[in-house]
Amino acid sequence: KLIYVLNGPNLNLLGKRQPEIYGSETLADVAAKMQVKADKLGIQLEFFQSNHEGALVDKIHEARENAAGIIINPAAYSHTSVAILDALNTFENPVVEVHISNIHKREAFRHHSYVSSRAEGVIAGLGTLGYVLALDYFAN
Ligand code: DQA
Repeated sequence: KLIYVLNGPNLNLLGKRQPEIYGSETLADVAAKMQVKADKLGIQLEFFQSNHEGALVDKIHEARENAAGIIINPAAYSHTSVAILDALNTFENPVVEVHISNIHKREAFRHHSYVSSRAEGVIAGLGTLGYVLALDYFAN
């Protein structure tokens, strides 16, 4: 089973970026701990991060060809991107949306995510553990 793990803008700076909100782990740390879990579950992972909306759309199109599911933190694009929502709507397998912070506890403009209307489930506010928990969903 191949699962795509997609991360949106500014998440390349995870660990350095507002650590009081997003913690001190880097995206590479998150990938490493997901990989440990995925190996136990017999799941293959394809990691991708981009600061560009179109690059994320292209990667979702690629996922259509071979992925059993998508775990996506669309970051700021959650709140703005109909294009990413539309791309996810062309994908036929399950989608789990992850946010490191609890977007509902933050500014009002973060309370709405376009992607949530497509996602099977949303995990928000559990830090980077949310990515690992999303893998459990795909193992079930
Ligand atoms: C985020 C929350 C978004 O509102 C924000 O724009 C991000 C990260 C999170 O993981 O908590 O970049 O998706």
